[in-house]
Order: sequence, then C-alpha cells, then structure tokens
Amino acid sequence: MRFLDRRVGESPIFVGRSSEFVRLATALDDALENRGRLVMLAGEPGIGKTRIMEHLASRAEAQGASVLWGWSYEEEGAPPYWPWMQLIRAYIQGKAPDRLISDFGPGASDVAALVPELRQALPDLEPSPPLEPEQARFRLFESITTFLKNAARTQPLMLVLDDLHWADGPSLLLLQFLARVMADSSLLVVGAYRNMELSREHPLSKTIAQVSRQPFCNFELLSGLSRQETGSFIEAFTGFTPAQDQVGSIYSHTEGNPFFLSQVITLLSNRKTLSPDSMEIPQRIEIPPGVRGIIGQRLNGLSPQTAELLTIAAIWGREFDYRQLGILDTGLTAEKLLETIDEGLAARLIEELPGGRDRYRFTHSLIQQVLVEDLSASRRMRLHLRAAEALASLYGPNVEAHASELAHHFAEGDPALATGKQAHYSLMAGEQTLASNAYEEALRLFVRGLAAKEGQSMDAESSALLFGLGKAQAATHQRREAVTSLTRAFDYYADSGDVGRAVAVAEYPMTPGVGRVRLTPLVSRALQLLPPATPEAGRLLARHGWCLSTETGDFQGARQSLDQAMAISQKTGDLELELQALGTAAQLDLYTLRLEDCKAKSFRASEVARIVGDLKAETMAHISGWSAMGGLGEYDRCIEQMAAGLGLAERLRDRTLLVTTLWQNSMLSLDPGRHSARLFSDRGLELASSDALLLGSRALLEHQAGFSVEGEAYLDRLVDVMVSSAPGPTFEYLIPAFIIPMASLPHYREPRPARNGPASCRDCSGVSFFCATHGDVGQRRIGPAGPSTRR
Ligand SMILES: Nc1ncnc2c1ncn2[C@@H]1O[C@H](COP(=O)(O)OP(=O)(O)O)[C@@H](O)[C@H]1O
Ligand SMILES: [Mg+2]
Repeated sequence: MRFLDRRVGESPIFVGRSSEFVRLATALDDALENRGRLVMLAGEPGIGKTRIMEHLASRAEAQGASVLWGWSYEEEGAPPYWPWMQLIRAYIQGKAPDRLISDFGPGASDVAALVPELRQALPDLEPSPPLEPEQARFRLFESITTFLKNAARTQPLMLVLDDLHWADGPSLLLLQFLARVMADSSLLVVGAYRNMELSREHPLSKTIAQVSRQPFCNFELLSGLSRQETGSFIEAFTGFTPAQDQVGSIYSHTEGNPFFLSQVITLLSNRKTLSPDSMEIPQRIEIPPGVRGIIGQRLNGLSPQTAELLTIAAIWGREFDYRQLGILDTGLTAEKLLETIDEGLAARLIEELPGGRDRYRFTHSLIQQVLVEDLSASRRMRLHLRAAEALASLYGPNVEAHASELAHHFAEGDPALATGKQAHYSLMAGEQTLASNAYEEALRLFVRGLAAKEGQSMDAESSALLFGLGKAQAATHQRREAVTSLTRAFDYYADSGDVGRAVAVAEYPMTPGVGRVRLTPLVSRALQLLPPATPEAGRLLARHGWCLSTETGDFQGARQSLDQAMAISQKTGDLELELQALGTAAQLDLYTLRLEDCKAKSFRASEVARIVGDLKAETMAHISGWSAMGGLGEYDRCIEQMAAGLGLAERLRDRTLLVTTLWQNSMLSLDPGRHSARLFSDRGLELASSDALLLGSRALLEHQAGFSVEGEAYLDRLVDVMVSSAPGPTFEYLIPAFIIPMASLPHYREPRPARNGPASCRDCSGVSFFCATHGDVGQRRIGPAGPSTRR
C-alpha cells in the first residue's frame, strides 16, 4: 500500500475539501496583501483539520510565506504559552542577531524571558524594568504581537495553532490579544479545535466569542468526506480502485472521517479483506464499532512487547523520546527496544518527529488517548509515578527546569505514594509559571499543591503555596480571594517568627482599592513586627500611607505614615524610599486639593525617579504633576508634562499608565479640529475600550465639535460601563454623574468655529471637563475616599 510505504518527506494524500480550501486560500491571499486574517477551523477528531492546514501551509510556502506551527497537547506538564513558544523558537532558528534585533525591537527582553533561545541568540539584552503582574502580561503580549507583525513585514507569516481545545488559558488570551491588533498585517492565523469538546465554560469558548467579533475572522467547520470522496480516498490510500459496495460499507461505518478511514483501510488490508484481488461482498467486511474498537484491533495486530511499550509511551503524552523509554526499566534490551519502535513505525501508529534525535509522536492523538484510557486506573497511576521518579533521576540537578512535567506525573500518580512530591513540584512549577505571567496556570498549580496537603497542619510549604496562590489570584482580579490567601500565609509566617516572609507578603505589590476588600489591616499588622525607624519599616510605612489614603479615607493617618517614611528616608539617605513616599504623598495632596504641594512633590519625585532610574515612578510623577498644574490653570506646562509622560509610558509599556497618559493628552490637544485629541483618545480606547475617563471626555469632545450622534454613542458606552461596574464611589460612577449633565448644556452642543491662530485652552471641552474634575466636583468629594483611582 502506498500509505504504508510512504517515505519521510513524501507528501501525503489530500482528497476532497475543495470549497473549504478555496476559502482558506482566499484568506491566505488576503494576508499576503497585508490584510491580516484569522481562521478558526472546527471539527471532530480525525476529520482532517491538521491535514487541511498542512495543505494550506504548502501553498503558503510556495507563495513565499513562512509557516510556523504551535501545538497543544492534552496532557499537562508543558510550560505555559507552549504553542507560542514553539512558534517563536522555530522562527528564531538560524536567524542572524541583527535580524532578530530588528524583528523583536524593544520587546526582545520580555520575549527572552519566555523563550531562552532568544537570550542565547542575543546575550546582551538589557532586562525590561519590572512591572506589576497585570501590566507585565500586557507588555509581554504586546512584545510578542509586535514581533509577529514586524516579522510578517519582511516575509508574510502563516501561524498554525493546532488543537486549541487543549491550549492553556494564557495562550488563548494571547490569541485574543493578537486578534485585536492583526488587521493590517501580513499574518494568517489558523486555529484548529474540536468543537464537540467545548462546553460553555471551556476557556476556548470565551476566546471564540471574542475573536468572532473581528470582521477578518472566519469559521470553517469540517464534516466527513462524501461517499464519492471516500472512494477516492480509498483509491489514493491503497493505489487500487475499490468495488462500489466496499466503498458503501466503509463509508457507512466511518461517515467519511478520514482518520477512521485510514484505520479501517489499514486493518482490512492487513487482513487481506481489502486488496486488488479481493472483491469480497461487503457484509463480510467486519469493522469493529467506534474508534476505540478500530484502534484496539490494530493494536492487537502488534507483538505483545510493542503493544506494551506503546502503552507506556502513551503515559508520556503525544510525544516521547527514546531516552524516556530507556529509563523506564521496560525489561527490554536496547536492541529489542529499537525493534519494537520500528514495529510501531511500520504500523504507522507512531512517526518520527522532524529533526530526528530519536523523538517520536503518535500519528494521531486518538491513538494515544485510547491507549491511556484502556489502562486500569491503578496501572495508570503506577505508570505515572514510575515516569515521575524516572524523570527526577534523569534530570538530576536540572530538575527545576522540568517542574511542570514532574508536577503533572506526580499529580496523576498514586496519591498515597506521591503526595509529598506533588506539593513540592507544584510549588516549584507554580512559582516558575507565575514568573512567566501565566497566572491562570499558576493558580491551578498552587490549588493542586494545596489539595495534596489537605488534612495536614500548616507548614512552611503550605504557606508558600498560599502566598503563591494569593499572587495568582491578585493577578487574575480575584481580590477577595487573594487577600484571604495572603492573610493566611502572613498569619503562619508571623506566628512562626519568620518576619522576613511575613513582611514580603504584606509588601506584595497588590494595588489598594476601594470597597470592602482591604489590604490596610495586613500592612498594619506587618508594621508591628518591625523595629521602628528601619528602612524596612519605612517601606511598609509608605505602603501603609497608600493603603490608608485609598481604602479608608483616613487622610490624616495616611499623612502621618508618609511623614514617618520620609523622615526615615532622609535619615538613611534611601532615595528609593523617598520616592515611594513622595509619590503617594503627591497623590494624597491631590485628593485633598493641596495642588501647590502636589506640584512640588511631583517635581521632586520626578527628579528622584530619574536619579534611581525608576521609569514607572517617573511616569506617575508626571501624571500627578499634570493634575496639579491643570487645577492651578498652568495649561502650557501641563501640555509639556503630558507629552513627556506619554513618552515614558510608551517606553515602559505599562497599560494603565499608557491609558492614563493618552487620556490626559487627549484632553489637552487644543487644535480646533481636535484631530490629535481624537487620535490620542482612539489609541487609549484601543487599549481600554471601557475606560470611563476616556469615554467621558470623548463624549464631550464629540459634542463640542458638533458631532452629537457620536457624542451620544460614547455616552451610551459610558453608561454601560457604569451599570456593569461595582457600586461606587468609583470613577465609573463619578464620570457619568457629571458628564451627562455637562453634555446636555447648549454650550456643548454648538460646534466651535475653527479660528485662525492658536486656540485658547478654554475652548477645549477637555479643559472644561478637567476644571470640573479638579475644581467644583473635586471640592464636593464623593464618598469618604474621594475620587478613587480604580480602573
Ligand atoms: N482530505 C484528506 N485527504 C486525505 N487524507 C486526509 C484528509 N484529511 C485527513 N486525512 C488523514 O486522516 C488522518 C486524520 O486527519 P487529521 O488532519 O490528523 O485530523 P484532525 O486533525 O481533524 O484530528 C490523517 O492521517 C490525515 O492525513
Ligand atoms: Mg489534528
């Protein structure tokens, strides 16, 4: 048979699918002409998703595009962002450093944190300034998508994301992010998934809902080949023309699913039921029901040793290597092992992975799944445990780099034997995953580690797991849960006298917020553990001041803490501490409308931030300085401040700061046509489509420019945001409360005539709005904490 004889590199058969392929080829043509396209390809297992993407990939390459593949696998244990890591790795291979520098741009060091090969290729990369988790992830996503768009400028890129139903949550978020920004790029992204495995809660369902809003996204659903195509398939597969009755029988058993077809044909051919000489009557073609039966029959045709070996290999996952089998004490000599692998290859149950090096993979995920599922639960657990222990000894001192893989095998292993190890490796893997900004994955690992410790009394390991869990919860917006986990970790450290760790928990950079979930108590308790007037106490005092002013409205208490922190910084000459205290104190002055004080502190903060090289603090200082100067009527200086502030935020690529500085710039663009105001506002809304400040000021701007329909549309969006946000007092409540009355004033409904010469600041709706926020409304503070900075 042709199929069985196929040599590596020979192109496999491709039957039918003409209309689907035409649509895919059109998407490819669009991408080649700089109109980015995303195609989501759905269908049951074995229906031919991977095959049609391979076929499209050959066409893309023939038309000058470069194709990169990223696979997801069912088994856990791969690092987060695995499909993306594979794509990027493949891209880097063989590229000159200069080319990489221009493709990756300023985001290179963020990507290098994920893909070590990039750091090896560019060893002199400067690390990026650290950011808070949410911002760090935004920056990572921005770096990766910018790189992909850049790279596609030199040579169009087709990205294939196969088996997305198994992708980790963070990888899916990255796909959503890319879908938002790829419209004008030479990128074709094709994602394949099994639609029948998607519940509404499945993370991919959310991704599909998100990406389907893009006009350049299409869905393609593959169904079985027709009866006629089934005949062509059999012919192409075997090299001879089957009898019509045989085709009919095979078609009715397989419904034209190409994977089932290939299995059935191989089985029947092995039994000599289907051959050029046998035109047996169809009734005698016995095809076992279902895919499990068919694969089971094919495995029965193997020698017992090979069947056993493949079962063990399936425990490793869809891919495995010779070395892994070797360490598993299979009782086979090296020679026998190779013989069994050869038998699996000949039966086309496994195939060699490109690049050689003794790596193999099951030809279809269904084969691996059936093998694993056929094992009894106890045998499966024993095999996982054996795998985990073998890996631990194989990796030796490098075991940390493989923590996720070990955590997976220990978790699947016999709980009675694996508990201690499971918690240990889950903690290790969770911390690594957290460091690569894959918070949802980290959360899962910490939860799993804690589950392994259930029923035991708290110890250092469970509190480390809780600390990790708290960080992952904070990064995924679960504030209440985060504070509970952090407090439990803190309690253990405080009670056991581990002051260093207790303080680290209290210092974890979670942003204080309004509402019932408060960080203030944790920070107050941590303060009691430290001797006063030390630099450590100073840092906590500064944080205490921030928490108090934001969470409780105790401005006096906040000021006291900040003064103490400042005094310590002056005594010890600790500039970083001074900066921390100054930044918060400037905010506090703004809340309490001490605008001159705020301005002075912001200047000093910006100076110190430059000395210590803290880009984030410098941007924040510009933001508070802008507010103060605006309130004082110093608009020209305001404009200078904000242009510089935006430049800093762009270097830092912190999303919140970018949005804030874009908003501020949009408010102060004074050209009568307001083109630049709109441009800033558009950029901001692209990053944060439901930001109340941006929507509110944009509504006013449109009204004042005479575009009342647009103005109303922005107001509607603003009201939607308000309705769906938590109860106030928050920005989301404050802004509509006075934007709506302002927008209805006749003043805002009359377009301003364009004038010759420079416009005055007072002509700008943004400035009027700004005076309102910092003047009248500011004085009539809403709620005890004043306008919050919650976003
Ligand atoms: N249109 C087709 N023509 C020929 N063979 C196909 C076709 N579609 C799929 N196959 C073969 O059927 C098997 C299963 O297809 P695959 O693309 O792996 O399915 P899926 O990715 O949907 O699970 C593979 O061996 C593949 O080469
Ligand atoms: Mg597939």
